Amino acid sequence: MTKSIVLTGITTTGTPHLGNYAGAIRPAINASKDEQVRPFYFLADYHALIKCNEPARVKQSSLEIAATWLALGLDTENAVFYRQSDVPEIMELTWMLTCVTAKGLMNRAHAYKAAVAENEEVEGGDSDKGITMGLFSYPVLMAADILMFNANKVPVGKDQIQHIEMARDIASRFNHIYGEHFVLPEAVLDDNAATLLGLDGRKMSKSYNNTIPLFEPEKKLRKLINKIKTNSLEPGEPKDTDGCTLFGIYQAFANAHEVDAIRKHYANGIAWGEMKQMLFEKINDEIAPARERYEALLQAPEHIEQQLQQGAEKARAISRPFIQTLREAVGILPITQA
Ligand code: TRP
Repeated sequence: MTKSIVLTGITTTGTPHLGNYAGAIRPAINASKDEQVRPFYFLADYHALIKCNEPARVKQSSLEIAATWLALGLDTENAVFYRQSDVPEIMELTWMLTCVTAKGLMNRAHAYKAAVAENEEVEGGDSDKGITMGLFSYPVLMAADILMFNANKVPVGKDQIQHIEMARDIASRFNHIYGEHFVLPEAVLDDNAATLLGLDGRKMSKSYNNTIPLFEPEKKLRKLINKIKTNSLEPGEPKDTDGCTLFGIYQAFANAHEVDAIRKHYANGIAWGEMKQMLFEKINDEIAPARERYEALLQAPEHIEQQLQQGAEKARAISRPFIQTLREAVGILPITQA
């Protein structure tokens, strides 16, 4: 049986938060234990440069994200866990793909279009303001990440689906010109994966600055949970679970039975303070053991680096011969070679 290749990247610009955990990391770690799949999970550090010009932050984020995945029990025997920049073949492939990618395709990318639209809101503004070639051609880098390992399935958030479609387009174009080298990847959206709301009730996201970092020390975790915005209903007044930030987060950590019990508490007018206490305990119970491992790992960065190097070796065992084939396909080979 050939295993299905599942690949996803995590941009190294921030600290993982509860929303990342429930929506992406936890499902990916569970998938890493599935015998039917071969997961490729990587730190997308070249992607980080598109939106972050702070070297210290890119480095720190790589450390924190790698430590997070290891602390949570990623199965690195089955999964290939690596840093994008340790696999230079990806960059080489990026150029080969850039040369078959229509500029018009990139013009249609949502992230780029949104940046242009924002610039054009200003009277007489420059529509190219602040837009780098990195931002413009970022879907090509992402296509290279995926096609380098001929991934079948790419778990992503909704905002990334267009990029997977672009990767398919780019792969088809390359295959048409140079022969069938690439598998066409498919996006997988996990409909069951939770989308958590943040401190202010908007979607939890680092761009809204409303996140609860996953491995916040216990005291701080409690403090942040207490800061979550609620309505002003008094204890004893029945409360609605729909759209309630506290309830939504609770649901992502509890089993069906526990969720039912909480629904009843809401109907009976649980006090927000009490709900916050229950939520804190629920999260802390799940996270505490991993938090200890996380803190220990941060003290042992050489162990993390060693894991990443092993991952890179596994990745390069594939990318090195594959890029050789691709070089030959495009005509880049010793002139003495047939
Ligand atoms: N661009 C993705 C994001 O912002 C991260 C990413 C980079 C990625 N390369 C990838 C995701 C390849 C899936 C496959 O979330």
